This record gives sequence, C-alpha cells and structure tokens, in this order.
Amino acid sequence: MEKKALKALVLYASPNEKGTSYEAGNFVCSVLKKNGIQIRTVHIARSRISPCLGKRACRERAFCIQKDDMQKYYKEIKRSDIIFLVTPIYFYSVPSQMKAFIDRCQVFWEEKYYKDPNVREKTGFLIVCGEMRRKDMFDCVEKVVRIFYRTIKTAFAGKYYFSGDFNKKSSVILEKRVNKLLLKIS
Ligand SMILES: Cc1cc2nc3c(=O)[nH]c(=O)nc-3n(C[C@H](O)[C@H](O)[C@H](O)COP(=O)(O)O)c2cc1C
Repeated sequence: MEKKALKALVLYASPNEKGTSYEAGNFVCSVLKKNGIQIRTVHIARSRISPCLGKRACRERAFCIQKDDMQKYYKEIKRSDIIFLVTPIYFYSVPSQMKAFIDRCQVFWEEKYYKDPNVREKTGFLIVCGEMRRKDMFDCVEKVVRIFYRTIKTAFAGKYYFSGDFNKKSSVILEKRVNKLLLKIS
C-alpha cells in the first residue's frame, strides 16, 4: 500500500515578507517540496488574528468565540503532521502578531486537558533569526515555543537558530536538519 504524504504547516511569524526569516522559511518549503511533503503556509502578520480576550469561553465550549482567521488555522494545525515555526527575535521573544496566534491556541489547552484527549500527535521544528550574537539570545523564544508546541500536542523535535544573514552555510545546515527529521518521522 502506498504511504500517505506527510502534511507540513509552515508558520511565517515575521511582518517583513522580504526579510531573513522569510528567506529561511521559503528555503524550508523548497526542501519539503523535494521530499514530496504536502505544504500549507500561514502568513501570520498578513492574517486577521485578534488577541486573546482572556474570557476563558473556550473552557466551556472547546472553541474560540472570536470569528477571525484563527478558525481556519485551528483546522490547519489539526490536519498537519509536522509544524515549522519560522520567526525573528523581537525583544528576546516572538513578534506580537505571532504571540497573538500562540495565545489564541489556548483553545487546544482546553481541548487537550478537558475535552478531547485524542488530539493527534505532531512533530515540530523551530527556526529563529536574530541580529545580536549573545549566548542566551534564543532561550526565551525556545521556551515560549516549547510550551506552545506542547499545548498543540507537538513534540519539539528540531531547531535552527542563526544571527545575521541567511547564507549558504545556513542553508546547508538547515537542509541537513530538516532531512534528518523527515527521515526520523516518515
Ligand atoms: C521590534 C524589533 C525587536 C528586535 N529585537 C531583537 C532582539 O531582541 N535580539 C536580536 O538579536 N534581534 C532583534 N531584532 C532584530 C531582528 O530579530 C533581526 O533583524 C531579524 O533578522 C529580522 O528578521 P526578519 O527580517 O525575518 O523580520 C529586533 C527587530 C525588531 C524590528
């Protein structure tokens, strides 16, 4: 029987579509394409995503009452096997548009612990770019994304962090890591 193609979801977090993280994200898509992976992309800053209102309505209803693009993105998350989050660092964290997306995924926390214990397991990879070369530069983003991935039932399975340009050396390392991950999960 033929194996089903893996479904990847690539989350572009930067508001700058001509920027460095988009370059890295587009490169990841080219690697996924070469591997015959189905790709869906979400351009966070281009989307209509309101911040979480904190009313905890999702606790009672297991869905978010706000009607914006998150409704289709919840489905995208659920149908995917592997998630790539590609983000720049903003003040040691993710851009505010990405943070709004993450906060709105509180609905998965409620599903996971109170409503639906059968949400399926996924695999996650994180790509982060920054400007400064400090040792602790990527720690906060990684913490935020680890807890985000755990909430959407996604195992944190790989990462690539870099400062400055996305150059030839970056693409060689990133391709190797993505291929290694794909081999592991396919
Ligand atoms: C609002 C803002 C905050 C930033 N904060 C940091 C930071 O804390 N550390 C860092 O290394 N770079 C910081 N940067 C630089 C970006 O992370 C860096 O230029 C990155 O490559 C931008 O990616 P992009 O071109 O994909 O948007 C910041 C940039 C902006 C616009």
